[in-house]
Amino acid sequence: MTADPYAFALHSALTVAAAADGPAACLLVADEHAPEQPGAIAQLPVLTNRWDVARRWQEAGGTAQFSDFDFSAWPPATLTAIGYRISKEKAVVHHIINAALERLRPGGVLWLAGHKQEGIRTYVAKAAARAGAVAELERLAGGGTLAAIRRGAALGAALDDQHYSEWRELAADAVGIAQPLATKPGIFGWQKIDAGSALLLQAVPEVWPAPPERLLDLGSGYGLLAVYAASRWPGTTIVATDNNAAAVAASQRNLAPFGERAGARPSDAGAELSPGFDALLCNPPFHRGFGTADALNERFIAAAARLLRPGGQALFVVNAFIPLEQRSRGLFRRITPIIADRSFKVVALAR
Ligand SMILES: C[S@@+](CC[C@H](N)C(=O)[O-])C[C@H]1O[C@@H](n2cnc3c(N)ncnc32)[C@H](O)[C@@H]1O
Repeated sequence: MTADPYAFALHSALTVAAAADGPAACLLVADEHAPEQPGAIAQLPVLTNRWDVARRWQEAGGTAQFSDFDFSAWPPATLTAIGYRISKEKAVVHHIINAALERLRPGGVLWLAGHKQEGIRTYVAKAAARAGAVAELERLAGGGTLAAIRRGAALGAALDDQHYSEWRELAADAVGIAQPLATKPGIFGWQKIDAGSALLLQAVPEVWPAPPERLLDLGSGYGLLAVYAASRWPGTTIVATDNNAAAVAASQRNLAPFGERAGARPSDAGAELSPGFDALLCNPPFHRGFGTADALNERFIAAAARLLRPGGQALFVVNAFIPLEQRSRGLFRRITPIIADRSFKVVALAR
């Protein structure tokens, strides 16, 4: 994802801090709001839950830690500046503010950036209360805020992060999965079975009357589609992949009961995987402005075409208005609508 203007302002502030204190005393915490080309900010160590961001940092010669925002590598009270462009989910933001303030030494600064509709002002007020400080605010164009929160000697009460790091169980018997699924904040739709994914699963028996040999779950989230396939077909090899560290960890946990024939690994839209799958299940990410969502969908469609062996089939579910069939033309031998409801459509793509 490209960096938005608020992330850009944050990176500038952090670069100034790094020039004064040295990059090793600073940390950038990033999710999808990271630049395509890190450039000069690659000198700052990054803690990210996105595989593509970590890879970009490493390619630019920088240091990246890819994890579900696990700060344990940084001892308490050691850093002088931490920057974070706030995420969408409250539990993630609270977890990062709590952990970041603990890693700052007294006098160190937590830089937060975001838009007013994302609740940046509320987050800044809560972070300042925990830091025992008054925040300095800079208004950014278009309703954004950049805040500097200087940590006091003692920290106040932690923000409620809904026990961010703890696993919980989600019942999935409604879609024919007997085992409860491990899930947690920070993963797409972690509290529910996605309605689009449930529709996709309804179409599976029609598309694969016989078990496939090797199946890929592309963008697996906590692994719902992969676990369904693993439980339905005891002889099938299953690979689940996602760009998000928490999603990969959840998929690994949920596929563990199936032993060596099923596993999960991180990748950016399957870029690091080798072709040879004869089945692929995908509910591609759709959470950005239309143009970006379209580009992401196109990357997932192109990945399916590359990763399937000739004769293999992919089953995609997308919002009803996404022109999936049009985007798939020329890449697949046969494009077949299978099932639809008022919100979603499921389409089979055969190589
Ligand atoms: C709509 S969710 C579907 C999740 C899951 N398959 C389900 O049915 O519940 C899309 C998933 O794609 C993942 N994703 C987003 N960008 C990605 C990328 N570049 N590479 C791989 N996965 C990505 C997200 O983290 C998310 O888990």
